[in-house]
Amino acid sequence: MNKYAQVFQGTAFTSKSPKEVEILEDYLFCINDKGMIEQVVAPTNNDYSILLNAYEGKENFHRLAEGQYFLPGFIDLHVHAPQWAQSGTALDIPLYDWLNTYTFPIESKFSDLEFAKTVYEEVVNTLLANGTTTALYFATVHKEASFMLAEICANKGQRGLVGKVVMDNPDQNPDFYRDASTKTALEDTEAFILAVKELAKTTKQGVYPVVTPRFIPSCTDDALKGLGELAAKHDTHIQSHCSESDWEHGYVQDRFQKNDAFALNDFGLLGEKSVMAHCNFLDDNDANLFAETGTAVCHCPISNAYFANSVIPIAHLHAKGVEIGLGSDISGGFSPSLFDNARQAVISSRMLEDGVDTTLPASERGVPSSRITINEAFYLATAGGGEGLSLPIGRLAEKYAWDVQIIDTKLATAKLPIFNVEEDLSDVFQKIMYLVRPENIREVWVQGEKVHSRI
Ligand code: GUN
Ligand code: FE
Repeated sequence: MNKYAQVFQGTAFTSKSPKEVEILEDYLFCINDKGMIEQVVAPTNNDYSILLNAYEGKENFHRLAEGQYFLPGFIDLHVHAPQWAQSGTALDIPLYDWLNTYTFPIESKFSDLEFAKTVYEEVVNTLLANGTTTALYFATVHKEASFMLAEICANKGQRGLVGKVVMDNPDQNPDFYRDASTKTALEDTEAFILAVKELAKTTKQGVYPVVTPRFIPSCTDDALKGLGELAAKHDTHIQSHCSESDWEHGYVQDRFQKNDAFALNDFGLLGEKSVMAHCNFLDDNDANLFAETGTAVCHCPISNAYFANSVIPIAHLHAKGVEIGLGSDISGGFSPSLFDNARQAVISSRMLEDGVDTTLPASERGVPSSRITINEAFYLATAGGGEGLSLPIGRLAEKYAWDVQIIDTKLATAKLPIFNVEEDLSDVFQKIMYLVRPENIREVWVQGEKVHSRI
């Protein structure tokens, strides 16, 4: 009997470090029945021909055709699933107005489970079709609809980490959309955690409950404290928005006389399993606290260009030892694609470094050492996200989950400009990162199961 559930043969790209991409040319990837990569075998390895002899031609052997490549599945560290319903709209007003005029009204509609089902099915399908194999979701305040999102991830095979959003502060949230009280917010969160943990037992890829204070303004002190305690009690992930905009950053300073990072830490909301979205206004003390506690930053480059009017200095935060992943921030960011967000991360970083104000002399423009390469953006979307979540995902390496996207560069309707003229595989990698469209994502696998196919 053959040992492995599946064996894949082909060329893969995976991050070795933030700056380096490893090219595994024509390797074998041996997957066990739990969907984990058990062996990664180079063509020069003695086992290569033995494995080929044993598996070639069998139903569980998959060889990529010419022009096809494996990439790790992307990890979206920040998606508001209900906001898919308004993606692409209202991007030209400030965050505070956007939340109150557009976002809270649409999120309030998720008390209607039929509506929730329609939107949530579409957003999970869309993310899978864009190569996102793991997503860290904000749902809404509604316990039932939030659980439905976890069920949809479970059924479609996506690794979903889902939060019932907590917004109990009557001073900052509208009456039509908030938790009824601090007590019910905490009770609903605990019931949600327990239900998702039960659901997780029925899945291969895992679904996870996430403690989710929307952001400091939306929560009372008692809720923030209670949520920190619930996360510790049930050992869950935690997510929130942190130091996103001038307005929000200023609000937290007024309320606590400190930055978000220290305020969140006081409530037990930072740690190895915490992911904080945006973090545009982190100072060096905040960054050190993130590094010490193992808290990850989620960089949302498209959204930040609209709502935060800022670019975070990725290279500087990496140098300080902060874990960083990438997020679409649907619908603060309009695109569900982490390819698009990786491209924007590179573009924004170049504008930060170079400066764009030509009324200043060239020597006075920009922030030095801010640029990142497409390799670093790829790292954020894959290995960086896995580290942020403390899960064995985001790399094509032994002991990692088989979460992959199979990229087809030769598709007739979306062919990449690869002409095999003195071109090496690192050029192919860059073309994939810059030019792939959803059509080129031929198959998507999560934990050894095919969850999306264009054929
Ligand atoms: N801060 C609080 N809620 C939100 C949200 O939904 N999107 C963004 N971008 N920032 C927020
Ligand atoms: Fe957000």
